[in-house]
Amino acid sequence: MSATVVIGSQWGDEGKGKIVDLLSENVDVVVRYQGGANAGHTIFVNNKKFVLHLIPSGIIRKDILCVIGNGVVLEPVAFFEELQILKENKIDTEGRIKILPNTHLVLPFHKILDQLNEKGSNKIGTTGRGIGPAYVDKYSRVGIRAVDLFNLEYTFSLVEKNLEIKNLLLDQFYKSEKILFEEVKNFLLDVNEKLVPFITKDSTLVSKLINEGQRVLLEGAQGSLLDVDHGTYPYVTSSNPTIGGALTGSGISAKHIKEIYGVTKAYCTRVGEGPFPTELKNELGEIIRQSGNEFGATTGRPRRCGWLDLPALKYSSQINGFDYLAITKLDVLSDLDEIKICTAYKLRNEVIDYFPVDAVTLSKVEPVYKTFKGWKKSIQGLRKFEDLPDNAKKYLSFIEENINVKIKIISTGFERDDTIII
Ligand code: GDP
Ligand code: IMO
Ligand code: MG
Repeated sequence: MSATVVIGSQWGDEGKGKIVDLLSENVDVVVRYQGGANAGHTIFVNNKKFVLHLIPSGIIRKDILCVIGNGVVLEPVAFFEELQILKENKIDTEGRIKILPNTHLVLPFHKILDQLNEKGSNKIGTTGRGIGPAYVDKYSRVGIRAVDLFNLEYTFSLVEKNLEIKNLLLDQFYKSEKILFEEVKNFLLDVNEKLVPFITKDSTLVSKLINEGQRVLLEGAQGSLLDVDHGTYPYVTSSNPTIGGALTGSGISAKHIKEIYGVTKAYCTRVGEGPFPTELKNELGEIIRQSGNEFGATTGRPRRCGWLDLPALKYSSQINGFDYLAITKLDVLSDLDEIKICTAYKLRNEVIDYFPVDAVTLSKVEPVYKTFKGWKKSIQGLRKFEDLPDNAKKYLSFIEENINVKIKIISTGFERDDTIII
């Protein structure tokens, strides 16, 4: 009985898609357990690029069953668009995708509310995909779930109730147009027929598959520092990318987990608002952005870039209990003369080595750095640890020793095979 979990250890975009695709070679089932179409997971195979938002990254390999877990908020149109792109690229998805019945749906008005909210004083820099408002409905117990599509008359009555308060908010607070019940009804009628064949009635599917001996991989979206409980609140997403979310978002027991991977970029990036202690707001940040091609896979926004942050990584590792780290994008640092790692923070002249959980304090800390000599040699596509330059090895062992978690995977390029497995 075994489940492997892959979690982003930073602010998202660590390269989870590549690592999930890589590890999928040895699994039967891949489950996305939270988030929605705010995610953008990139996979390159034989120079062909795939960006997945909702469908698990196991879909690129043949025969793997892909499950959209109940912790996900699923936007039907984004899902159909993704399916279409996969079909155009000759990926056979027939019978390979299942949506758990208790998965909530993102409806068009969730996107409208997300975008209106972003225009106000509470701007988070969201992806505008309706994620926050869809989770708000889930927790307010007025959400529409996949299973509701089996009973449309009942679903319409839920929508009617839901719209009462939404329209009050739109009209009185946002001074925006009201949402017509008929529009939502027509949307649901439209997507119903196409979505229902993917919805399983068995919410315990994943744990059953594990009990049957299937090897399951749980794919996280976003990153631990964007977690609504453990991240840099309020500049976070609205779900739990951390380990607890993997359990609640897929319906399995903690007993089923065999190993947990923390995917960690060799430096840090962040998209949207919020504190980022090691951010490089200078030419060097721009150099890393260009060489790492750090532009959002979902929104195209330039990602903020900075040095690796060990207090943040330690914190993330502690919450998730990583068994292994997968270090990605090491090749991006190859041209630099010097590379820095933040080992602690300075807060009001005091050195602290913990990660402050409130955004106000975190925005005031100053990073304390250790400087490493660069290796100044391309490592792109290297597949053997022995072939790495000594300075790259030193950089990696410093991370490993300080986080006290074994580095098992080192990614040296975006292609599936540009990888060192230790
Ligand atoms: P995810 O959201 O965690 O799956 O990450 P994204 O796909 O949003 O962003 C990671 C980006 O880095 C993608 O464009 C990947 O193709 C790319 N990538 C992943 N690993 C590597 C690597 O080791 N080296 C380089 N140069 N690019 C990588
Ligand atoms: P993947 O899975 C990076 C960020 C947004 C914003 C905040 C809240 O590709 O790593 P939301 O739309 O979720 O309400 O936005 O979270 N964000 C991500 N940043 N990678 C992601 O996903 C992200 N998903 C959301 O930029 O700051
Ligand atoms: Mg991404």
